[in-house]
Parts: sequence; structure tokens; C-alpha cells
Amino acid sequence: MSARIIDGKAFAASLRTRVGRFAADFAAAAGRPAGLAVVLVGEDPASSVYVRSKERASVQANIAGSVHRLPATTTQDELLALVARLNADSGVDGILVQLPLPPQINTQAIIAAIDPNKDVDGFHPVNAGRLASGLHGFVPCTPLGCLMLLKDQLGSLSGLEAVVVGRSNIVGKPMAQLLLAESCTVTIAHSRTRDLPATVRRADIVVAAVGVPELIRGDWIRPGAIVIDVGINRIDLPDGGTKLVGDVAFDEAVEIAGAITPVPGGVGPMTIAVLLRNTIVAAHRNAGVALEKGAL
Ligand code: GUN
Repeated sequence: MSARIIDGKAFAASLRTRVGRFAADFAAAAGRPAGLAVVLVGEDPASSVYVRSKERASVQANIAGSVHRLPATTTQDELLALVARLNADSGVDGILVQLPLPPQINTQAIIAAIDPNKDVDGFHPVNAGRLASGLHGFVPCTPLGCLMLLKDQLGSLSGLEAVVVGRSNIVGKPMAQLLLAESCTVTIAHSRTRDLPATVRRADIVVAAVGVPELIRGDWIRPGAIVIDVGINRIDLPDGGTKLVGDVAFDEAVEIAGAITPVPGGVGPMTIAVLLRNTIVAAHRNAGVALEKGAL
């Protein structure tokens, strides 16, 4: 049997359209567009591509996006000064500092300097704490996008066994918190997990976010499980070309799973759509304009 393919690209496109409508209504109500400031330090090629995509997507969603491109030699104090300016700018609702940062800059110090109410990435310790405590705050875009796809597939997640493979602050840990809040029984597995195949085999829901190409094999998947693959790994092919693959061996898993996200076209497109969503939520909160509950 072949799994349902979860079309993250289509889901993200529909979310972006909805965000665009709310953004237009916000601009009319507030007398200004919602603003997203993206900061890029250096010229990491992957980061440059992501930032250009975020810029384009903001414009399409009626959000005023500004990109601040700084040289790779930028000091921590210079970056802190820019963050302070953006914190104080009432036209900026969301601030995103693209990671990774160059080695002379302490990433945690920069994240901690962002106003938690403009932290649309959800990386600030205050937002991580809010998520862990079940309080309103900003949730990191990729795991929130995964949760939206899961709820779209399953409706209620209550009582399901969820295994998150990967324990990063950006995906693994917040994903586990979100699943716990949906009343899943949650396991976080990682590189030191003693028997990873047996752990994954317990799962009704597998979220793979380890960054190891095709680590998770088809025979690790419980028949009918939902598989969400966050990995985006470029691998070399024998013919000299390259190919994007996830953390799950798709061709094997698709024969066993109930539903699975492809790479590309699964989780990837959700990240930017949720960033725009978080920006619109931030704009409403910061400007004191009401947003219909559960609207986005
Ligand atoms: N680098 C890779 N993914 C992300 C992300 O979601 N946010 C930020 N700020 N940097 C990233």
C-alpha cells in the first residue's frame, strides 16, 4: 500500500493567501501595513536564498518586508545596535535574524536582545518558556507548520504516540511541546538514543528533524503511521549531480506509512507561510487590533 502524500506546498499556498487577506484588513484598520524586518549577516548562500524568498513572500502577502544586509565582519555590538533600533521602530512588528550567524557573534545574546513580542521566529527564551508553560507566545515556524499539517491529516492528536527525532531548539524541542499540548504521548529521540529503530516503531506520528540524509528507514515505520520529514539534505549522485532528500528514506517509508511529507514540497514551504502568519499575529497584538480567535 502506498501512503497519502501530504502536499505542504498547497497547504502553505492557501495559508499565505489567508494571511494576505488578514494583512490587507490589518493595514486598513491600523493605517499602516504589518512590518517584518529580516536581518542577514554575511553571504551564506543558503541563507541568502531563504532571505530572498522571505522578502518576496512578504510582499505577496501585503506585509512590508525590509531586509537588512550586513557584512560578514559585523561585530556583536553593531548587530545588537540594529536589533535595538528595530525593537524601537513602531512600524516593525516582527524581527527575524537569519541563522547561522558568523562565529564572532554570540547567537544566544542576539536572540535574547529581540523584543519577545516581535520575536516571530519564537526563538527567544521568553517564548520558549511561554510554549512550555502553555501560555500565548510565538512558536517557531517549522514545528508550528508541522503541527498544522498533522492536524489537517488527523483532526485530534489526543492519545497518539509521537516520536520526535532531533532535539534542537528550533525544531525538536518546540515540536515535542506542541505535541504534548495536543495530548500526545511524546518521546524525543536523538543521536544517543539506544535503539532508535525500536523507538520510532512505536510511533503513530514520526517527526524527523535530525539533518542526517535518509537515516530513518522504511522498516522503522509502524504501518499506517504519519511521517513528517523536516530534513532538507543535498546529497551527491553518482552521475555528478545532486538531489534534495529528507531524513527519511522516502521510497521505503511511502510503502508503509499512512501519510508522509515529501522532500521537497512537504514541510519546507510551511516555514515561510507560518512566518508570515506569526507576523500578522504580532502586528495585531502590537497595534492593539483584534484578530478573530483561531483565524490563522
Ligand atoms: N535558519 C534556518 N532556518 C531558520 C529559521 O527558521 N529562522 C532563522 N532565523 N534562521 C534560520
